[in-house]
Amino acid sequence: MAAMKVFWLITLLVVAEEAMAGVFWETKDKATERLQIIPPSEETAKKMELFLFERPSFRLVKRSIKRPEDVLFIIDSSKSVPEANFTRGIRALQNLVTKFRPNTKFAAILFSTKAKVMFKFVSPQKAVKNLAGIRYHSGFTNTQAALRKAGRLFASKKSGARGYASKRIFILSDGQSNIKKQNTLYLAYLLKDMGVEVFVMAVGQRIEGINELAMVATSTDKHLYRVGQMEEFIKVVNEIPNDPSYDKFNSRR
Ligand SMILES: *[C@@H]1O[C@H](CO)[C@@H](O)[C@H](O)[C@H]1NC(C)=O
Repeated sequence: MAAMKVFWLITLLVVAEEAMAGVFWETKDKATERLQIIPPSEETAKKMELFLFERPSFRLVKRSIKRPEDVLFIIDSSKSVPEANFTRGIRALQNLVTKFRPNTKFAAILFSTKAKVMFKFVSPQKAVKNLAGIRYHSGFTNTQAALRKAGRLFASKKSGARGYASKRIFILSDGQSNIKKQNTLYLAYLLKDMGVEVFVMAVGQRIEGINELAMVATSTDKHLYRVGQMEEFIKVVNEIPNDPSYDKFNSRR
């Protein structure tokens, strides 16, 4: 009798465990599938307004005094992004600059097989100019090298980074790292631990490395954005109004 009970208990446990495992895998797949969904561009633009630019959802609210921001663009130039699309991405980033407040400073790192600092923290005007000078450099996807340089750039006293500014990274990429990729998530974690918020614009209809990009981002609901192609990224940026004080700032020059 007791032996029978034990037998049933074990059977139950085994069945339950398998069922749980099934549920677990299904959830994981479903989560990945959810990350592949590309929302309409207006939705992504709204999400960026709220979380990347922290604009209140209704206009007339006076914005609270915020710390200035140091924003680092990390741009994927790997061979999976064709040159024409890369150039579109650069154009979208130039436009993105004017959505931030005018006291924001920008820097950029380009990566493919290697990562290189394109320019250190400069004014919006200089950033737009410097972005125009960035040339496509095809190769592998060495995301971790870019993240390593990002950490050094934020910590350096010579990079123009301001200790009192809030630190943000905006990654433009189409997929999974393929050089020393075991370091990618760890280095992203170190950056976040140092107080850097990591935003990711993931470009592509279906992205092989979407899970990695999602984990590199500070969160999936606020920091991860999806578009099918670069044209769409341009569209999203165009839908975000310029910073009003930036417009004033520009017309005064
Ligand atoms: C490049 O951009 C074009 C036009 O937006 C798009 O049709 C194509 O799929 C893109 N190619 C890749 C590999 O991203």
